[in-house]
Amino acid sequence: MPEVQPLFQRVAVIGLGLIGGSLARAIRENGLAVTVVGADKRGDELALGRELGIIDEAAGSVAEAVAGSDLVVLAVPVRAAKSVLEEIRPHLGNNAVLTDVGSTKTSFINDVREVFGELPARVIPGHPIAGSEKSGIRAANPALFVNHKVILTPPENVSQPDLDKLKALWEGCGATVLTMSVAYHDEVLAATSHLPHLIAFSLVDTLAGEDENLDIFRYAAGGFRDFTRIAASDPVMWHDIFLSNRDAVLRVIDHFTHDLDQLRTAIADQDSTTLLRVFSRAKAAREHFSKMLSGQAYVTNNSQKKVTFRLQPGGRISGEIRVPGDKSISHRSIMLGALADGITEVKGFLEGEDSLATLQAFRDMGVTIEGPDEGFVRIHGVGINGLQAPRGPLYLGNSGTAMRLFSGLLAAQPFDSELTGDDSLSKRPMGRVADPLRAMGAVIDTAEGGRPPLKIRGGQVLTGIHYEMPVASAQVKSCLLLAGLYAEGVTSVTEPAPTRDHTERMLEGFGYHVHRDMATASVTGGGRLTATAIDVPADISSAAFFLVAASIAPGSDLTIRHVGMNPTRVGVINILRLMGANIEVLEERVIGGEPVADLRVRSADLKGIDIPEDQVPLAIDEFPVLFIAAVCAQGRTVLRGAEELRVKESDRIQVMADGLGALGVETTVTPDGIVIDGGQVMGSGTVNSHGDHRIAMAFSVASLRAEGNIEVTDCANVATSFPGFVDLARRTGINILAEGAD
Ligand code: S3P
Repeated sequence: MPEVQPLFQRVAVIGLGLIGGSLARAIRENGLAVTVVGADKRGDELALGRELGIIDEAAGSVAEAVAGSDLVVLAVPVRAAKSVLEEIRPHLGNNAVLTDVGSTKTSFINDVREVFGELPARVIPGHPIAGSEKSGIRAANPALFVNHKVILTPPENVSQPDLDKLKALWEGCGATVLTMSVAYHDEVLAATSHLPHLIAFSLVDTLAGEDENLDIFRYAAGGFRDFTRIAASDPVMWHDIFLSNRDAVLRVIDHFTHDLDQLRTAIADQDSTTLLRVFSRAKAAREHFSKMLSGQAYVTNNSQKKVTFRLQPGGRISGEIRVPGDKSISHRSIMLGALADGITEVKGFLEGEDSLATLQAFRDMGVTIEGPDEGFVRIHGVGINGLQAPRGPLYLGNSGTAMRLFSGLLAAQPFDSELTGDDSLSKRPMGRVADPLRAMGAVIDTAEGGRPPLKIRGGQVLTGIHYEMPVASAQVKSCLLLAGLYAEGVTSVTEPAPTRDHTERMLEGFGYHVHRDMATASVTGGGRLTATAIDVPADISSAAFFLVAASIAPGSDLTIRHVGMNPTRVGVINILRLMGANIEVLEERVIGGEPVADLRVRSADLKGIDIPEDQVPLAIDEFPVLFIAAVCAQGRTVLRGAEELRVKESDRIQVMADGLGALGVETTVTPDGIVIDGGQVMGSGTVNSHGDHRIAMAFSVASLRAEGNIEVTDCANVATSFPGFVDLARRTGINILAEGAD
């Protein structure tokens, strides 16, 4: 065991109940203080604490415990805090830190102010979110805080070293420490802890008051038992908590009773739309609860989940597969379906985190969405003006498409909104949409450098503009066309090179005319959308990994079914064919306004090429895997005009060059592209994907021609666009294992 340096010389724990006792014990057992001294008015508890070895010393009074201690922890019931603070104050050393463990923080701060005449910088309130149905020092458990959260609400002028030491103490007890403001803490706790306790107490009491109560309890089903478990908590403690956190609790009770009343009305009126909307929104929220609390990506808690791909070299690709639904089309199907009049049914929807984030955001704005269930989604459209204000920020995970398209949609809503995302999305440029939207009359705030979060002020009147896009971006084009649905007059966008046109096609599918004239698309505001049926083709961007895999692995023969072949997306096929790939396009057909085909791909000897610049926007997401094809080709491949790759989920030029470098492949990076000399040996090594799904999948494909094992780190985000990638890759012949995945 490594030696742990004690953080504090002498810690005084005032109040040896469950929490105080557990903390004292955890501090002692983890060697976090030289001495732990306890004080408690109840002499027997104090004696027991000493006897059980929970504390080193039992102090005869609060004064004795506090004097000479460099940390004082107040662990008494919240209503008793003030009188104990009065006892503490005269003896608290100038450099000592004072903290507490109470469930409400405003009341504690008020008590401190009254007793000290101010809020001293060294008072750092705390609240461990841990407990047990048991109470008293006998129940003291040194592991009580392990994997639990502790919230600290430091004053603004806190000394950082004091805060760091207190954090380290809790972390040393196994807890995760969060800091937040006092007011926010009390609001959050009122909603997530105090209200549920109140409802549990109240429900049991109501039923206990019924004449047939005995029968009711006898037959009470699991639902009642689960729901009311917390009504067995300590009444005195909860009495204290409700009175101490009165204002925040009253606000959340009012909010809840209002919503409960709406449900009552919905039942009385047999209003199944409202019931279904509320229940499905709640179910989805409950399922993704932990993720929403921690602000991580949608389905999985990506940044906490460390997924590593382990790949063995070699393999041959064969079989017949269908990859998941197109990401771009999936996003748009939810957006337009939600804004349409009537019910839109979607087949083949991508159940990846990005499109699920879009789906959840519309639920948050009051849209009833059933599913997804094996790619089937039913959207109860609310009409173009039917969205409701979301209750909080709309969290869009890793999805740049969602954020940029939403910004257009939300700029003209009557309500304010805020768009947030994960670490990667929070670094991506949003000025490209905010600037032209502002020119239309939108009021949007961004963080520094035009980064998320985006704060959009509602109630603005937008006016159509003509916009010449400086970069070829389907996201910017789509954002402006969506804003244009709400703007006065005509909104038109000219693109410097063709980009994916799914928004234009789908708007037409929903009966909204888009005028197209060469490089310009325009809409006239004020129309309506009519629900339709959508069949989402398989995503060519996901198919691309297998197109390259089967091309570079000798002896391969693979068929990929139902791939979207929109001409604005087929750059990867054009480029691979120029390199000599053997790709057959079979069974071409048009489904729901989008061309679709089956692709048969067999291994081929690839050669390096100068990638035609006009193909760049048409293959923009496929370059990571095309770089792998270039390494496996004979001769030099040169990419130019692709600076956009630097602002994707990662800087895809640099991250790919670094990854190839880790495998011993030399490349020359240029500001807008890369030069790759083919025929180099890919050895074994560890590649950091930087949380970029397409980088992780590209290096999985690389293993087919590598000479050693490859490890790719930070791969959890593959679930944003390609759920099931690892299984499918293994099924086709890639020697891949995912470590750390569910
Ligand atoms: C997308 C457009 C592209 C692409 C992204 C999806 C879309 O981004 O990279 O994955 O659905 O409109 P840009 O428009 O920024 O090039």
